[in-house]
Amino acid sequence: MTATARIGIVTVSDRASAGIYTDEGGPAIDAYFRKVLTSPWEAVARVIPDDRAVIAQTLRDLADTEGCCLIVTTGGTGPAPRDVTPEATEDVIEKPMPGFGELMRQVSLAKVPTAILSRQTAGIRGKSLIVNLPGRPRAIAECLDAVMPAIPYCIDLIEGPWLETDPAAIAAFRPGAKPKA
Ligand code: MTE
Repeated sequence: MTATARIGIVTVSDRASAGIYTDEGGPAIDAYFRKVLTSPWEAVARVIPDDRAVIAQTLRDLADTEGCCLIVTTGGTGPAPRDVTPEATEDVIEKPMPGFGELMRQVSLAKVPTAILSRQTAGIRGKSLIVNLPGRPRAIAECLDAVMPAIPYCIDLIEGPWLETDPAAIAAFRPGAKPKA
């Protein structure tokens, strides 16, 4: 039986965490994985303020205690004084994965000229892949569509659970794997 993957979904927003507005980013990430993943998974969701120490502690908790193989953050990647999600991510990762940010900015630039304002990054902590997304709900699918084909193989390499995607939505690429007949 395939193990149930746990996916951390972290909304980083002072206003959403204070209840001033409704969190749209977290539910958009949840809906994305519901559409794309066909293997069993469950969400571990958090809504937290733009506080470097709180973000770092949340990421450690999701990776080390909750056993999330993948942790996706939304928000706090821009240049404003309270935007510190990339710094908090860098505080906890052991291996930076710069290709994720590079590719997401590149595809986002075709959508909005302000894509270069996102400092979104990614990296590995233990058996977890942490990926930052911008805070705009529509940026979520725009960015995840670009990097999702490589995520299942990345999770294989860090000894996480087997992730299967619906090829009609996202064709996961695993080098050496034979395409399904
Ligand atoms: N990327 C995509 N795909 N779509 C977007 O709308 N918005 C940009 C950028 N990247 C955007 C995007 C804008 S306007 C900003 S300020 C930065 O992400 C940072 O956003 P954040 O601080 O909410 O993370």
